[in-house]
This record gives sequence, C-alpha cells and structure tokens, in this order.
Amino acid sequence: MKWKVPFNKPFWGGKELKFIEKAAKKYEVLGNDGFYTKKSIAFLKKLTKTQELFLTNSATAALEMAVLLLNITQGDEIIMPSFAYISTANVFLMSGAKLVFVDINEDTLNINENLIEEKITEKTKVIFPVHYGGNACNMDKIKKISKKHKISILEDAAQGIGGYYRDHHLGTMGETGIMSFHETKNVHCGNGGAILINKKKYLEKAENLIERGTNKKAFLRGEVPFYSWTGKAGTYNLSELNAAFLYAQLLKLEIVNEKRKDIFLYYLNNLEDMEKEGNLKLLKLKKRNRSNYHLFPILLENREIRDKFIVYMKECGIEIVFHYYPLHLSKMGRKMGYKRGQFPITESISQRLVRLPLFFDYSAKQQDYVIKKIKYFFMRK
Ligand SMILES: Cc1ncc(COP(=O)(O)O)c(C=O)c1O
Repeated sequence: MKWKVPFNKPFWGGKELKFIEKAAKKYEVLGNDGFYTKKSIAFLKKLTKTQELFLTNSATAALEMAVLLLNITQGDEIIMPSFAYISTANVFLMSGAKLVFVDINEDTLNINENLIEEKITEKTKVIFPVHYGGNACNMDKIKKISKKHKISILEDAAQGIGGYYRDHHLGTMGETGIMSFHETKNVHCGNGGAILINKKKYLEKAENLIERGTNKKAFLRGEVPFYSWTGKAGTYNLSELNAAFLYAQLLKLEIVNEKRKDIFLYYLNNLEDMEKEGNLKLLKLKKRNRSNYHLFPILLENREIRDKFIVYMKECGIEIVFHYYPLHLSKMGRKMGYKRGQFPITESISQRLVRLPLFFDYSAKQQDYVIKKIKYFFMRK
C-alpha cells in the first residue's frame, strides 16, 4: 500500500553512496576496520565519551557480545521489562539465563525502578534497563541498586543515539551498553549497531570478542608475534561498506535530532488540548533527560478505541503502528510460566499505545494532515 503518510522513512544524508564507493575503490577495504569504521568509532566515542566502542552488525549482535563479555551463563537471572524488544530476550535465553520481568512506569514506559529490588536473588547477574524511545530510565536509582547488590547493568540504548541521562549519553552508565543503527533508528546503515564498553576491565575481552575470539588487535599493535584463539565468539562486526554508509549519516546526527525535536514539539503543542479533554495521554519527558526524540507514542483509552483509531488512520492513508506485545504474554513468555495480570501497566499500555509518524523528511503539510485526522477521529467518536 502506498501511504500518504508512512510511519517511517529511513533517513538519507546524501553522501552514503559516495562514501561506499570511496571505501571500495579508494581505500580498498570492504570487510572490516577500514577508514569509515575508524571514523565512525571516533565520532561515536567523542559523542558518548565511552571508554571503547565497537561497531556491530546489529544491536542484537552487540548484545550477544555483551552476554559473553559479562559471562552470562546457565541459571543466571536477568531483570528486564516485559515491555521490550523480542531479540533482546532471545539473546539472554540462548545463553541459558532466566528472564525475570518487571513492570514499567506509565508516564515514561521505562522499567519501574521501584520494582527492581524485590526481584533480586543470589542468581541475579544483570539489570537490563531499556531506554524507551531514547528517553532515559531512572539511572540514579538503578545504579544505586546495582552497587548495593553488586549486579552489572547492561543498557539497551538501541533507540538512544544522541539521548542523555543528565550529562551521560545513553549506554554509558552500565558496564556495557548496546545501540542500534537499523533503518528505523534516527541514523542508520540498514542494519547495524554498536557495543559500548564502559569499564577498563572489559577492554581486552571485548576486543578479542569483536575479532571473532582471537587476540588479533593485540597482534596488530605488535604486542604478540601472532594471533590465535582466545575464547568463544561469533562474527559481530559491521562491514566496512555499512560503516561508510553510517559515517555519512553520523555527520548529520545533530541536524536529524534537531528536526525530530521540532516535529515532536509540534505534536505536543497540537495534541495537548486533546489530552486535557481526556481523549489521549502523551509521554512525559523528564527534565533530567535529553531526548533524541526517537518516537512519539500516544496512549488511547482502551484497545477497542486504539484498534478503531489505527483503522481510521489507515483509511486516511496514514500508517500508524503499535508495539510491544508484552514478552510475558507471548507464547514463549507463557512457556516460562508467566500469566496475564502479573504486569498490569505493561498489559494496559500494550493495548492502548500507538506511535505517530516521525521521520526526518516528514513535511509540515503531512504533520498538519495527521493532526487534523486525529482531531476528526475524536470528534466522530
Ligand atoms: C529497544 C530495542 N532493543 C533492541 C533492538 C534490536 O536492534 P537490532 O535490530 O539492531 O538488532 C531494537 C530494534 O528495534 C530495539 O528497539
């Protein structure tokens, strides 16, 4: 279906193909660690101020690395929201870990920090906060809990490029964090990601993991006479061609996030009255956070209205999507013994949430049309 207003249109910076051609023809590196991988890493390290960062072929691949980095194994428990992306749960599950779900806050859609501590046992290995929509979880509280119980934090900053908690870039406050450059993200390279290494003690293991379980980086620095097998690993790194694409996008990050901010605030200003009238609820941005305006979710009264809203907007040529189906109510979640009623906010939100179109090329005319149709929908209701 050709939408008048699609939900998303991947960002296009303009120099992507030129950089890919240069990578292939001028620098003659197509695999890994070429000019654009180095440039992208330098850019992201400067932006995030993390100790070390590696580009990966997805955020999911970055998480697979993180699982090995933190030595998450059979029987370890991972505390995470049920309102999260499926691939993250899968990676933990494949390591043999047990998923311990926690409900979210209705105003931020992030993990409810006040419900974490009661879930901690002697088997808890990691707290996995997901910074939903590029808006930070309450990291002061989560860090306090992790310190008290000596549990690692692994941040899901997949949606978080350019987002901050106080002065800290998302993904830099735990032992490690992951980021996504999938085409749905603010900047992207089709499929891609990064792992952020925030503690010195993980540096050596992390660089061996990104080199497919070898000490090749130490060899390239001349520290060892040859490189060999150091441990379990997969192939996580990003192709140089994708890195070339990504670098063209990173150079435009500030412009992209500024434009998204304008779109986000325009929605806020134009939908506030509808919130006052009780038709919908808007996400509350915390003053302590700097958002990257990745998503614009709204909450409707109930599932029936939400579903009617999606159908009505579709008739108007506007693509509206929802997520996440709660992990604990999925086929896999039920197999683990989870039941309806355990996480009431997650269950309620997942039936009421929709995300409105938000992308760089979204025109003022398109946005006015969407807002007009939202207003019509509630007038007809
Ligand atoms: C919150 C969150 N975590 C993880 C992922 C996985 O990212 P990727 O597709 O790069 O593996 C996504 C992807 O949309 C996501 O939104």
